[in-house]
Amino acid sequence: MSKVLWAGRLEEKPEDEAFAFQASISVDRRLALDDIRGSRAHALMLGRQGIIPAETAAALDAELERMAAELESGALEIDETAEDIHSFIEGVLTERLGDAGRTIHAGRSRNDQVALDFRLCLKRRVPEILAELAETLRVLLDRAEEHAASVMPGYTHLQRAQPVTLGHHLVAWCAGLERDYGRFEDALSRLDECPLGAGALAGSTLPLDREAVARDLGFGGPTLNSMDSVAGRDFALELASACAILMTHLSRFCEDIAIWASEEFKFVDLAEKWSTGSSIMPQKKNPDFAELIRGKAARTAGSLTTLITLLKGLPYAYNKDLQEDKEALFDSLDTVRSCLRMFRGMTGSAVFNTPRMEAACTGGFLEATDAAEYLVRRGLPFRKAHEAAALVVRDCAAAGQRTIAERSLPELKARSNLFEADIYTALTPRACVEARNLPGGPAPQEVLRQIAALRGKRGL
Ligand code: ARG
Repeated sequence: MSKVLWAGRLEEKPEDEAFAFQASISVDRRLALDDIRGSRAHALMLGRQGIIPAETAAALDAELERMAAELESGALEIDETAEDIHSFIEGVLTERLGDAGRTIHAGRSRNDQVALDFRLCLKRRVPEILAELAETLRVLLDRAEEHAASVMPGYTHLQRAQPVTLGHHLVAWCAGLERDYGRFEDALSRLDECPLGAGALAGSTLPLDREAVARDLGFGGPTLNSMDSVAGRDFALELASACAILMTHLSRFCEDIAIWASEEFKFVDLAEKWSTGSSIMPQKKNPDFAELIRGKAARTAGSLTTLITLLKGLPYAYNKDLQEDKEALFDSLDTVRSCLRMFRGMTGSAVFNTPRMEAACTGGFLEATDAAEYLVRRGLPFRKAHEAAALVVRDCAAAGQRTIAERSLPELKARSNLFEADIYTALTPRACVEARNLPGGPAPQEVLRQIAALRGKRGL
């Protein structure tokens, strides 16, 4: 087991099980390259500021660079019995360089170090999520464009409500995902401050150059306040929240898909390679990917709860509780990444049963609102128009008719004199959709405009 960093103060060390309990290497090993990056910038700054000799700084930088390459090639393995990634990196450095290695921690604490590593890691990971999100949007927008004119029922209360288009439904999904993109971008812009130099909580008496180190590491600038730097984790909370909201979206989309894939709906046929079978029922083709993505949304909601509960009531500044932050957020980010990739594969290859969708618009009186609005256009107050259309629907039901258009003009006129022969062309599902061409509506041209707007906004 490598030597702990605090061995000078305490004569005794926790027993193995207790030591392992408080260790974080199993999680923060993922920060190894970030820790090295931060350490290199810190060492070079110490050299430039005359806090350590220039040659020592150069030696530290070179050795850290070598260690990064060795970690990547597998030549250097992370010691799972180390306390955390910071101790491990400093330990190896000291083993290899002797006293030079012992100079690097000047003006630094693991408290600002871990805050830095975490932020550096997120500055790498969040753009990956953004790229996955953009690609997912691209796939969905392509599908929406393909189906801009495919008529389908829109639902409220899971009851057929009014005709829309599949393109319109898919753009509804995309609108949420596009805001998710913005949430990740926002979080990224707010975490773009470098905590190095905050030390344990109160900065340092050494002449550190916080500005330079922040710049070298690609941050917008140093953090404002040293206590906030080591205690603040709202950046993690914000990202966990962005992950949970995104997963809530995916989970709802997946619920739509699972419903559409049912025998009762049959609106979508998922590709065989994006489905699974049953071990006992030979006929089954299950939408497992949709279900699992829906299920995994629970993990991200859980991580958000973990983080917000972790921070609630935590006194300033650093407390070891904060060590729990990374596992929760890493799990959320991993979940989001894999779910976006799976969701994209599944939706990109799905075959939509457009004849069946269009047929489902007939028979449930989805045109009733259009009949009422027809009367409004002819001057009838809406409440009266609503009543007249409702009475027509009741007449149809009593006569065993499936659509308003099955009634003769005199029959319609019995409910409102304002009905004329043009009512018959106004009430087909396609006519209903085409007439809804307000901004935001389901008319094919309007759906194409919405698609173009989203593409334009995100360069898709
Ligand atoms: N493993 C710790 C964490 O993840 C690093 C900071 C430890 N600082 C300390 N004083 N024990 O938060």
